[in-house]
Amino acid sequence: MGKVYLVGAGPGDPELMTLKAARALGRADVVLIDDLVSRGCLAHVPSGAIVIEVGKRGGCKSTPQAFIEKLMVLHVRQGRTVARLKGGDPFVFGRGGEEADALRAHGIEVEVIPGVTAGIAAPAALGIPVTDRRATHGVTFVTGHGAEVDWPALVRGRTTLVIYMGLARWREIRLELRRAGLADATPACIIQDGTSRTQKQVIATLGTLSAKGFGSPALIVVGDVVRFARGAALAPHAKAA
Ligand SMILES: C[S@@+](CC[C@H](N)C(=O)[O-])C[C@H]1O[C@@H](n2cnc3c(N)ncnc32)[C@H](O)[C@@H]1O
Repeated sequence: MGKVYLVGAGPGDPELMTLKAARALGRADVVLIDDLVSRGCLAHVPSGAIVIEVGKRGGCKSTPQAFIEKLMVLHVRQGRTVARLKGGDPFVFGRGGEEADALRAHGIEVEVIPGVTAGIAAPAALGIPVTDRRATHGVTFVTGHGAEVDWPALVRGRTTLVIYMGLARWREIRLELRRAGLADATPACIIQDGTSRTQKQVIATLGTLSAKGFGSPALIVVGDVVRFARGAALAPHAKAA
């Protein structure tokens, strides 16, 4: 039996992948790579290795998880070392926990290699320290994807909010945050393709931030720390692109 490395590729810039991740890729016979992962990360993969695209572009729309897990089990049982390369950190909104559990249930050895999550790196690329003590006592990573988030509780918590996958629901999320009492003047920003060459962002406030013109992958950051973003002092109420 081979083994599986569950590898975090980091947020976009391939140089933000860890040394441990690069070494694991160097040992791989098979690499399963997600959409969000920079292809630059594949520079560490041996030339003879099989590289399989398993994101939506790979055509696994219907049952991606089951399909991906099946593929890994198949290759490991043939004695291959598999690297499962996921964007950011595999355990942050990445279903890495589910994949590790499924593999271990098949008796497969899994080694998890953490990665730099977009929720820290993309704000940092703008100069935003998500837990800066001058502005907050903590940070909450939350998905904007589902409807089950307790937004009033998050507002009461008074931490920086880093919202993954929230772009499509930004109008509803903003409404929830306002209803919960968060002031319109609270600094907020959107960062698309954070740390990549194609990075773009808008810095505004809860009241003025618009998702228009932005696409996936993007993060929304809400909280006083956004005022530390480079350029924010020049355009605190900038209109969205
Ligand atoms: C399924 S989650 C995976 C998160 C990943 N595991 C991580 O730790 O960064 C995908 C979401 O992460 C965010 N994301 C990932 N990479 C990003 C980037 N480079 N810039 C901005 N947001 C990003 C977006 O909200 C995207 O929709």
